Amino acid sequence: MFYSEKVMDHFRNPRNVGEIPDADGVGEVGNAKCGDIMRMYIKVKDNKIDDVKFMTFGCGSAIATSSIATELIKGKPIDEAVKLSNQAVVEALDGLPAHKIHCSVLAEEAVKAAVEDYYKKHPKTKTKNK
Ligand code: FES
Repeated sequence: MFYSEKVMDHFRNPRNVGEIPDADGVGEVGNAKCGDIMRMYIKVKDNKIDDVKFMTFGCGSAIATSSIATELIKGKPIDEAVKLSNQAVVEALDGLPAHKIHCSVLAEEAVKAAVEDYYKKHPKTKTKNK
């Protein structure tokens, strides 16, 4: 099959869809070529990703990759969440077609952008974490 069961599942029933109005960090990224946009919201508590939601205006793989990315980082320490790679996203989905790999890159970038925004808004937490 072209897409794995997991991709189809996360595309049909995406987890953690929505917005967090009082988010601690928000990251928005886009791909200029396909025009897809991904927005990731995080709530941080005790240096952990307490809650995460996403809004993706894009292809099915972009929805699936953002959905699984939220599952992969939820409850994780922020410094671990920020290291989420697009390969980890692809593996968790049991693979993606080659021309859809860039969708997983978007998910990685969205998580990083949300964490960066969090650090920008809470500069002290970064040093305190060391
Ligand atoms: Fe561009 Fe999927 S086609 S993010």
